[in-house]
Amino acid sequence: MIQIKNPTELKGMMKAGELAAQALALAGKNAVAGISTWELDKIVNDFVVSKGGHSPCKGYGGFPGHNCFSVNEELIHGIPSKTKILKEGDIISCDIVAELNGFMGDNTKTFKVGKVSEEAERLMKFTEEALYKGIGMAVEGNRIGDISHAIQSHVEEGGYACAEKFIGHGIGREMHEDPEVPNEGRAGHGPRLLAGMTIAVEPMVNSHSRRVNILGDKWTVVTTDGSLSCHFEHTIAITAGEPIILTLESH
Ligand code: MF3
Ligand code: CO
Repeated sequence: MIQIKNPTELKGMMKAGELAAQALALAGKNAVAGISTWELDKIVNDFVVSKGGHSPCKGYGGFPGHNCFSVNEELIHGIPSKTKILKEGDIISCDIVAELNGFMGDNTKTFKVGKVSEEAERLMKFTEEALYKGIGMAVEGNRIGDISHAIQSHVEEGGYACAEKFIGHGIGREMHEDPEVPNEGRAGHGPRLLAGMTIAVEPMVNSHSRRVNILGDKWTVVTTDGSLSCHFEHTIAITAGEPIILTLESH
């Protein structure tokens, strides 16, 4: 069932979104050559805890980290590791969820470690643009398929592919709520959007093939062809007018 959040709940979502966005910015600032993804995870979690929040990914389905850090061909769900050291030219997707006073904010950015290839720059540009194309369709009266279609069209215009199997989601008191928010779909199809719905829109984009594998650690999702992948995500609220991006550092 898709929940409609009341104004008090939306205020709670906004506060959680702010914390998640601040934590993500902190991850980006610290994503420099020489740091391990374990250290990044600790920096982010310490910050979230210092603000009275917590990191709900820890233990979710048995996930061992507080957040997901996925480097280069890793698309999502990279496990923080002391032996995964960032190096110049890497791209790293930091997927940060924060819970504050019972509400969740979920956001992701792919960051550059120093100077990266033109290929990486272009993939990042298209993926972030696809996120905003999707968000642009997230208005009351439209359907989920309008968001999906906008994302898919832009990704394919760039010559890229939305990764198979993984999708965005409703979010609120739970990290994953209804509805599903696929990155591929048909305009005019799917559940109708109503003011007060809160969803996480998150294009996950591969350079070439849409195919992905899960590594032996049971979590890390990688491109099967070893090519770069990219991920941008915001938590948003549907309104009668423009959608509100909840995962902003300040409102
Ligand atoms: N942040 C991810 C999402 O967008 C979930 C991470 S999976 C977890 O749904 F196991 F780390 F929680
Ligand atoms: Co998400």
